Amino acid sequence: MVPVSSFCLVKVLLTKGRLTRCLLTERKTFKCLTTTFLCAGPSTACLSTLGSSIGKKNILIMGPPGAGKTTVGRIIGHRLGLPVIDVDDDILEKAWDMTVAEKLSKVGGEQFLEEEGSALLNFTISGSVISLTGSNPIHSRSMEHVKQNGIAVYLDVCTEDIIERLERMKVDRIVGQGPDVSMRDILQYRQQFYKKWYDTRVLCGASDTPDEIADKVLEAVKRYQDSESETFVSTRGSNTGKTFFSDVIVEGLAPDGGLYVPLNDLPKLTSSECQRLEDMSFPERAQVLLERCIHPADVPSAHLLEIVERAYGENFACSRIAPVRHLMHNQYVLELFHGPTASFKDLSLQLMPQLFAYCIPQMCNYLVLVATSGDTGSAVLEGFNNLSDIDKQRISVLAFFPEKGISSIQKMQMTRYVEGNVKAVGVNSDFDFCQRAIRKMFTNAELTGFLAVEYGTALTTANSINWARLLPQVVYHSSAYFDLVSQGVLAFGDPIDVCIPTGNFGNVLAAVYAKRMGIPIRKLICASNQNHILTDFLRTGEYDLNGRRLLMSASPSIDILKSSNLERYLYLISNGDWQLVRDLYSQLERQNLFRVPGSLLDRIQQDFLAGWCSEEECLATIQSVHSAAGYILDPHTAVAKVVADRLQDGTCPVVIASTAHYAKFAPAVLKALKFQEVTANPLHQLQLLRSLGSLPPVHNTLLESLKEEDKQKHKVCEADHSALIHQVETLIQDKFMKVW
Ligand SMILES: *Cc1c(COP(=O)(O)O)cnc(C)c1O
Ligand SMILES: *[C@@H]1O[C@H](CO)[C@@H](O)[C@H](O)[C@H]1NC(C)=O
Ligand SMILES: *[C@@H]1O[C@H](CO)[C@@H](O)[C@H](O)[C@H]1NC(C)=O
Repeated sequence: MVPVSSFCLVKVLLTKGRLTRCLLTERKTFKCLTTTFLCAGPSTACLSTLGSSIGKKNILIMGPPGAGKTTVGRIIGHRLGLPVIDVDDDILEKAWDMTVAEKLSKVGGEQFLEEEGSALLNFTISGSVISLTGSNPIHSRSMEHVKQNGIAVYLDVCTEDIIERLERMKVDRIVGQGPDVSMRDILQYRQQFYKKWYDTRVLCGASDTPDEIADKVLEAVKRYQDSESETFVSTRGSNTGKTFFSDVIVEGLAPDGGLYVPLNDLPKLTSSECQRLEDMSFPERAQVLLERCIHPADVPSAHLLEIVERAYGENFACSRIAPVRHLMHNQYVLELFHGPTASFKDLSLQLMPQLFAYCIPQMCNYLVLVATSGDTGSAVLEGFNNLSDIDKQRISVLAFFPEKGISSIQKMQMTRYVEGNVKAVGVNSDFDFCQRAIRKMFTNAELTGFLAVEYGTALTTANSINWARLLPQVVYHSSAYFDLVSQGVLAFGDPIDVCIPTGNFGNVLAAVYAKRMGIPIRKLICASNQNHILTDFLRTGEYDLNGRRLLMSASPSIDILKSSNLERYLYLISNGDWQLVRDLYSQLERQNLFRVPGSLLDRIQQDFLAGWCSEEECLATIQSVHSAAGYILDPHTAVAKVVADRLQDGTCPVVIASTAHYAKFAPAVLKALKFQEVTANPLHQLQLLRSLGSLPPVHNTLLESLKEEDKQKHKVCEADHSALIHQVETLIQDKFMKVW
């Protein structure tokens, strides 16, 4: 039906995110499914050759006055043997024949900026280290000009430090400062310009010496230049060619069935970075951590900033996004439910779709298929629904859910979307059927080929094993620690324990990565409900599915037996022993069982404690915490609380991850709080809970979405593969124009 050659071409275009991007951005790597041709360029520029690998480019040092641009520029020029140009001293003062301060007082701020800018426009220097002025970045035209041939490094110093330094240097006036604008205001105003232009950033601590900052600048430039350095591998080892972040976000699962992990460890945070992170807001922390983990060749910093600001803005009900709240004794709750769909999955899924939209090839349409029985569906729909209009025209989501297998609140959340690019369809069957039907579509080459050629559309998933869903979770575990430090509960370096209700091992794995990046997490406490295969594994080293039946619980989002992200942890803890991982998972396939070597179990138990909680304990704890603290736990959080009470020794604070708002699981919570005769109407359930006046406050977005009840006449289809495929094709026809 489909000519092989064009099918292959489409396949290549559709599957390799960075391929088309690199053609667009003149990257030097051309990749074809399995082969990599390195056309040019030293890929590992060590410091001694960095000077020459920069070639004709300039290193532009940018930052506020007092950041040390001139001094650091000189050190770098000296180390690399490159000429050094200070825009103030070497360009402006010569051209103007007066000091910058004299010029400023003579012509005034605006004129000054303009003249300063046009001096830069005259610039044709290459292969140099250039220290810009503090106000250069305000002038767009000249910045575009110098950036054509330069890598902009932002020396990011905290505003309070700058003010102190300027006082010491007896600088009392900077450009743009008038009688009614304070120094602090103008410095803060300027940050937007630095953020707009930088290619790479160095976070400077108050006590960093110029030499140390120069080291960091060189590191940062080296990383920026070496766009091949951060690659991903499969946990099962069979890797072909180089796989980048932009590939893994699109592919999801590795071709050999393993999960993608970064080849090298995630970066370690330095102590001066940690110092800075302490004073930052959640979105700022996210920006710092994500830009350390996503190479700028995949997503440039300025774009990452836009993504982060969009993800963690007004769509969260709490401006702190993921606040930490004291519960009782040494226990703190990390509230991860302030997002639009009231579970922690929003923290990833407000961000991931935007990264996805950026990384996919421009010329194709993408249909994200999801099978869902719980919180994932609504979070995926909401995340993709919030893309920009242009992205919505080529990215759609279709979620299949078991018509009778999800709660009424969850169904209402998912079926709200009647227009736009996302849609949920009920299936008269169970979750497994939906899941299998989707898998079958992915492996049906005739179908995928047809969709590709006929509609220029590729199928993809956004499931929880996608690396780009895991990475944003590292941010909130780190952020929780910095919050406790800035609240004075901890001094930096003091340990915490974390306790997390988990089924797929995703949330808890993100905490493992946070620990590896340098967050002082002592013990990770893994909390299960009566489906406690993870608890058993972490205690015995044996993962045994035999004789286990999935039990229904009050905490359904952790009712899981096949814990997919565990595979990444095994890879990590065995120092990348992919043969071991592959063997373990093929044993699991054959015998429903694997056992890890004793040495590995020892290492696992250095990281982990594990416990599980019965249904009765879970509900009793919701009740007892409510009466003791006036705070309502959702059933998943309650599972973690029970396990923390049992296993944590009280010698350091413990952060309990609260993965959902209680309103999402209202019937179980009402039962726990001993309400007799609970109404079946979800809106009334929420109103009942709100009337208690307890903490945390009711989730408004959820409440509002329940009021839209009448809108929902969602589609329900029979448990038949061709019916589901028909839904796929109809959606594609509705949403995407034919392109072939
Ligand atoms: C998805 C979910 C979990 C489990 O997440 P893991 O990835 O298995 O750690 C826990 N609680 C809630 C409320 C969820 O929605
Ligand atoms: C820029 O170059 C032009 C022409 O070479 C010259 O007239 C002008 O003075 C220069 N401007 C500055 C600010 O150096
Ligand atoms: C995304 O969400 C925010 C906050 O809820 C909203 O202001 C914005 O309009 C949304 N964008 C789109 C494209 O729907």
